[in-house]
Amino acid sequence: MDKAVSEASKSAVKVRPERFATGVGVLMATLGSAVGLGNIWKFPYLTGANGGAAFLIVYLLCTVLVGFPIMVAEQMIGRKGRADAVTSFKKISPKTLWWLVGASGVLAAFVIMAYYTEVAGWVFAYIAKSFQSGLMTTDATVTSAAFGQLVSNPWLSLVVQWIVLAVVGVIIVLGVTKGIEATTKKLLPVLALLLVVIGIRSLTLPGASAGLAFLFKPDFSKLTAQAIMVALGLAFFKLSIGMGAMLTYGSYYGEDQNIPANAARVVGADLAVSLLAGVAIFPAVFAFGFEPAAGAQLLFITIPTVFASMPFGQVFMVLFFVLTAFAAIGAMLSLVEVVVAFLVNRTKLNRTQATLVTVLAMALVGSMCALSNSSMADFKLFGMTMFDLFDYVSSNILLPVGGLLMAVFATWVWGWPNFKAALSNEGTLANEKLLKVVFNILRFVSPVLVLLILLTGLKIVNIG
Ligand code: PHE
Repeated sequence: MDKAVSEASKSAVKVRPERFATGVGVLMATLGSAVGLGNIWKFPYLTGANGGAAFLIVYLLCTVLVGFPIMVAEQMIGRKGRADAVTSFKKISPKTLWWLVGASGVLAAFVIMAYYTEVAGWVFAYIAKSFQSGLMTTDATVTSAAFGQLVSNPWLSLVVQWIVLAVVGVIIVLGVTKGIEATTKKLLPVLALLLVVIGIRSLTLPGASAGLAFLFKPDFSKLTAQAIMVALGLAFFKLSIGMGAMLTYGSYYGEDQNIPANAARVVGADLAVSLLAGVAIFPAVFAFGFEPAAGAQLLFITIPTVFASMPFGQVFMVLFFVLTAFAAIGAMLSLVEVVVAFLVNRTKLNRTQATLVTVLAMALVGSMCALSNSSMADFKLFGMTMFDLFDYVSSNILLPVGGLLMAVFATWVWGWPNFKAALSNEGTLANEKLLKVVFNILRFVSPVLVLLILLTGLKIVNIG
C-alpha cells in the first residue's frame, strides 16, 4: 500500500489512499470478486434446472455481449470517480440523478448478501461435516438427508450465517490491500486445480457421458423466456456487475491499469472455473441418479458422491469445501465493500464502525433467508420464500437494470471521446479499434438485449 501511495503522489495524481499494489494484485482481487458461489454453486444448479447445454449457450452469449462490455464500463466509471458507487456518479455527473444507480447497488449488496451468507454458511458447515465419515457415500438418499438436516435446523442456519459475517467483517476491517489481495491471490489457482482433479474422477465414473451430453449437447426446445432471463441474471451475478462492486474495485485501480485487457482475463477465468465446476458435478449427477433440476441443493448433495468414489476422497472433500469457502469470502468482500466504501465516504463513520454497522444489518436482513427452510418456510411473497425472492430480485432485476443504466451512462451520456480517453489511459494504450467495438456493443446491443430479455422474462412483453 505504501509503495503504491508514494508512487501515485510522485506523479501528482490526486488519489484515494488505498490502492491495489500490483497488476497481478488487480487481476486476482477482481477475480476474487467474480469467482465465488456463483461459479461453484449457482452455475451448476441453474444450468441443471434450465435444461443444460442450450442454457449454457445463452449464458455465453450474455457474457460476451452484455457481461464483458458492462464490466469494462463499470470499472471505468469507478476509476474516473475514484470513490464509492454513489459518490463516483455524483463526481462524474454532478447535479443529475445518475447516483441512483450507485444507490441501487448498495441496496443490491444487502439483498445478495442476505442469502449469499447463508449458502456460504452451508459451505462452512460442510467443512465440518467432511471430517465425519457419514457423508462419504454414493447413496443419493443419504447425502440429500444430510443436507436436509442442516437447512431445516433454524439455529444452526443462523449460527453458520453469523460465523460467515464475522469472518468477512474481520477481513474488511484489516483494509483493502492487505485483506483482499492477500486472501484471494493464493487460493484461486489451487481451487481451479482441485476442480480439474474432481472433474477427471467425475468423468471416469460409469455413466458419466450422459452428464457431458447434458452440459454440451444443446436441446433448444427446452429454452423458455424465463430461462433466458435467468441466464442473463447469472451472467451479471457471476461477473459481479451491475451493482457497484466492479465500480468500487475500479476506484482502487492504478491509472496505468489496462481495464479492457484485465476484464477480458477475468471473464475468461471466471468462465473456466464455472465449466470446471459443471464438469465436476454433472457426470456424477447422472452416474448416481440425481435429478439435474434438484435446485439450490444440487452441489451439496452431489459432490460428496464424487469424493466417496475416489482415493483419499475425504481429504479432497475437506480441501474442496475449504477452498470454496475462500472463494465465497472473496466475493463477499467485494459485496460488503460496496456498502462500507459508501458509508465511509458519505457518513461520519470510520471504516471499522461502517463495517460493524453493515455486518449487523446484513445479519438482520439475512436471518429471513437463513430461516427460509425452517421456521419461515411458509412465509412467502409472490410465491417465493425470502431466500428465493432475494435471489430472484437481485439477479433478475437489480443487477440487469443497474448494468443497463451503466451501459447507457457510459455511451449515451459520457460519450465516445471520454470513453476512449479513459480506457486507452489517455492515449497510452493502442486499443482504439477494440474500444470502438466495445463502445458500440455497449451503446446499441447490451441495453437492447437486457431490456428485451427482462420484459419478456418478466412477462411484461410477449414475443412469439
Ligand atoms: N460474482 C460473485 C460470485 O460468483 C457474486 C457477486 C455478485 C459478487 C455481485 C459481487 C457482486 O459468487
